[in-house]
Amino acid sequence: MNILLLGAGGREHALAWKISGSPLCRKLFVAPGNAGTAMHGENTGLDIRDAEAIAGFALDNDVDMVVAGPEEPLVKGLGDHFATREELKHILFVGPGADGARLEGSKAFAKAFMQRHHIPTAAYRAFTCDTVQEGLDFINTMTPPYVLKADGLAAGKGVVICSHRDEAERTLKEMLCDGLFGEASSTVVIEAFLKGREISAFILTDGNTYKILPSAKDYKRVGEKDTGANTGGMGAVSPVPFADNQLMEKIEQRIIIPTINGLKKEKISYCGFLYFGLMVVDTDPYVIEYNIRMGDPEAEVMIPRMDSDLVELMEAACRGNLQEYEIRISPQYALTVMLTSGGYPGEYDKGFEISGIGQVSGARLFYAGVKQDNDRLLTNGGRVIAVTSLAGNLDDARASAYNNARVIDFKGKYYRRDIGKDLLKRT
Ligand code: AMP
Ligand code: GLY
Repeated sequence: MNILLLGAGGREHALAWKISGSPLCRKLFVAPGNAGTAMHGENTGLDIRDAEAIAGFALDNDVDMVVAGPEEPLVKGLGDHFATREELKHILFVGPGADGARLEGSKAFAKAFMQRHHIPTAAYRAFTCDTVQEGLDFINTMTPPYVLKADGLAAGKGVVICSHRDEAERTLKEMLCDGLFGEASSTVVIEAFLKGREISAFILTDGNTYKILPSAKDYKRVGEKDTGANTGGMGAVSPVPFADNQLMEKIEQRIIIPTINGLKKEKISYCGFLYFGLMVVDTDPYVIEYNIRMGDPEAEVMIPRMDSDLVELMEAACRGNLQEYEIRISPQYALTVMLTSGGYPGEYDKGFEISGIGQVSGARLFYAGVKQDNDRLLTNGGRVIAVTSLAGNLDDARASAYNNARVIDFKGKYYRRDIGKDLLKRT
């Protein structure tokens, strides 16, 4: 198959590495890709928001399968473009249509969906500028902290957690009526704060059956001990040691199965990855968010643990016969440390030379914001390189990832030193 992968981050480097290793992959194109994906396929300068250009490229290059890395083109309906246009229908498309993509593209839709299908999630209400007073009254009925979520896509920044009521009231008004997150916050979901442990579960589904992918935990805050601003993710661990069989069984029975059944009941066809961001309160899982894609940097810890051929599984998902396949997962632990540009997730400089790659040993590197400049590698984004190590136990995976994180260098390099520390066995 000729495969076109969309995206340009560490997740796409991990996907490109895995896809290009499949005997089913003849040629891999990546749009737009980065210096990492260029090692496994051919980068193209396509704009992934331009459905016509992607379709044209796919036809010109005999592409058999399109894999969407990020959510944005899916929310904008790229999947429907491929599903409904006669000349594109033969191309397999991994990712939901715009209706399924609302699980991530609209928090209000996702919450109402969960309510309709009795999927455990925090109690909530949704408001617009017209109902801002009701929103303020609702805040008054709640206890802090207050969780305010922009309905639409806001580049991972749309969730605001306020400790004080006046801050929550001010933020609500700014989100709804002053366009704090633009159009994305014209509707805001206010929900109860859940206190517990976060974990992410992932499936690949054909809309009917599903395969559970490795669980992962990511570290979203920029600072150690989960302090400071939210980021795209500073590191990740897979599997999650506290995700024992009992918890995974609850996640499957209470969340995964009702979600698949809900999609079927609402006649939403869904082929692709589905990511469940969960909070485990005591021993019970609740959905914090759905994402319609793999996580980043979760993909960088999960994909190296997948022994199965991912292309074969994605093809089966698109063809609707996923139940005929088994998924094989390595029992090893994987840990990823994200090296970032100083200042991220705020302002940062780029274009700094990256050194030390040649000294890396026992780790796999997935490039995020990395650009090739003749024979040099330069930083080109906030998240720069994901350093992933695998080992028989978490301690060894952690030690190896950190040993390698230390030898790579660039001006302003910053990384959290406590990824996975909370999950180590205390003896
Ligand atoms: P999101 O942007 O949806 O991934 O949310 C960012 C982070 O906010 C999550 O990873 C959680 O740590 C936190 N969060 C979101 N919703 C809640 C909630 N209802 N209770 C507690 N924390 C939450
Ligand atoms: N790491 C969080 C995400 O991919 O949404």
